[in-house]
Amino acid sequence: MAPQNNDKPVYTLAEGRPAGDPTSQTILRGNPLKGGGLALLSDTQLIETLAHFPRERIPERVVHAKAAGAWGEFEVTHDITNITSANLFSEVGKKTKVLARISTVAGAKGSSDTVRDIRGFALKFFTDEGNWDFVGNDLPVFFIRDPVKFPSLNRSHQNHPQTHVPDSSMFWDFHNNNQEGTHCLMQLFGQRGVPESLRNVNGYGVHTYKFGKPEDGTFKYVKLHFKPDGGNITMKSDDAVRLAGEEPDYHVKDMYNAIEKGDYPTWTLMIQVMDPKEAETYRWNIFDDTRIWPHKDFPLQPVGKLTLNKNPANYFQDIEQAAFSPSTMVPGIGPSADIMLQARMFSYPDAARYRVGPNYQQLPCNRAKYVYSPYQRDGPMRIDGNYGADPDYVRSSFRKVNSGGPTDVAHDEWIGSVANYTSEVTDEDFEQPRDLWKLFKEWKQDEIFISNLSGHMKKALPQVQREAIKVWSKVDQEIVDRLEKALGDYLGDKGVDHVSGTPYGLQPAYGGGY
Ligand code: HEM
Repeated sequence: MAPQNNDKPVYTLAEGRPAGDPTSQTILRGNPLKGGGLALLSDTQLIETLAHFPRERIPERVVHAKAAGAWGEFEVTHDITNITSANLFSEVGKKTKVLARISTVAGAKGSSDTVRDIRGFALKFFTDEGNWDFVGNDLPVFFIRDPVKFPSLNRSHQNHPQTHVPDSSMFWDFHNNNQEGTHCLMQLFGQRGVPESLRNVNGYGVHTYKFGKPEDGTFKYVKLHFKPDGGNITMKSDDAVRLAGEEPDYHVKDMYNAIEKGDYPTWTLMIQVMDPKEAETYRWNIFDDTRIWPHKDFPLQPVGKLTLNKNPANYFQDIEQAAFSPSTMVPGIGPSADIMLQARMFSYPDAARYRVGPNYQQLPCNRAKYVYSPYQRDGPMRIDGNYGADPDYVRSSFRKVNSGGPTDVAHDEWIGSVANYTSEVTDEDFEQPRDLWKLFKEWKQDEIFISNLSGHMKKALPQVQREAIKVWSKVDQEIVDRLEKALGDYLGDKGVDHVSGTPYGLQPAYGGGY
């Protein structure tokens, strides 16, 4: 057949055979006089159409399933070559292609955008020395600091195993018993819990990273912040609730339309920089992702500008199949000793191998600019030439490979001595939340915080509410007084959300349906 005419392509079967309008074949299928009346195995058109359809789904992300995505670029505006040799920061004016995906966390793929939740902020930088993924959130701290709790955290925010709906009792029960999340809860129930648009969210790295020069063994600890140039604008709870029903895709549409109109969202990348020596004596453990580094101690320094300027040509191909991972790093950027970060470095590629397939790095949305990785071969859906006849074993004499330089620098002696901080919660964990409460009052956001908090808590079982109040008393007694007032009758049995799952223990035995 002649090459396809793009203006009016000839419809073909999946193997390229030109074919007739699929619906006109129905007559043949249904009419015995025309040799039809039966759907035959020889009807390739019908079979492949039906067979492909149920295979059009890949597993949705177990968290961060709903998102908007776009292409863009990053431009260096300030020189930071004194702290890192990462090639993407090598000179002011240097531009790097970027893929972005901004998500909610708990909801499924079809869920509403304007819910109170963290927003994920994932970026893939296609640098000259491989991809660098920034996989952050729009709040500066996280709920847990022990990675083994991650599945539990998310289950408590997602659907109850019996009722299959989100459940305030299990949400608060998880947090009552894992109080290191108090700081993050304050951020979530403050104004930032619902952004006005995805164009107005902050993007925090949350963890401490290392920026360094592996060649000379120097490095600094850094925290990364993408600040929206249009301001960090939040949405009123009432509007959010209304839009969640009226316009569930409000944020996704908003970002798509803005980019389509040429009103490109931009962010400024800022960093906080800490010398390793300072880390050893700093008052907070810098590997604890429930803590911030106050700006007064470590001021924000600008680095560059991120612009999202192109919508995906096809959402599934560019955004759904995209796979971001904190382990995707470039020379000059390294992980710190935060065990959350280290666990994440395992979990994301693991998820991608399952969700997209083991050769997910070859897809156009994930593929690095230059890759030569001949010790990973074959596997389903190999499409990159598979390195032809190149040796597939290390140290081959037949084709020598050049090796890249060292990728990271260590700080091991000190790291080895950092105390295990993950399981125990002490009063120190409530200091930053206490400071934030003072700020809420200064910013006149205290009323809203109490209203958001009580609005969610009142749906929990009364005993769970009382436990939560005990936790808030560790932050500030004033929160408790105002919360108790706002909860009023809800602290009794009145008003309990009876869609709340049966409290465990009162439930029929497992397999109660038999
Ligand atoms: C998505 C695991 C903590 C930000 C995911 C996914 C997994 C995961 C399995 C789905 C990945 C996929 O299917 O492609 C974990 C684990 C954590 C953790 C095990 C802690 C131990 C965090 C933290 C942040 C974060 C602290 C923010 C700093 C994100 C983002 C996505 C995501 C932005 C969506 C990425 C995308 O757009 O594809 N996480 N996560 N996660 N996580 Fe985490």
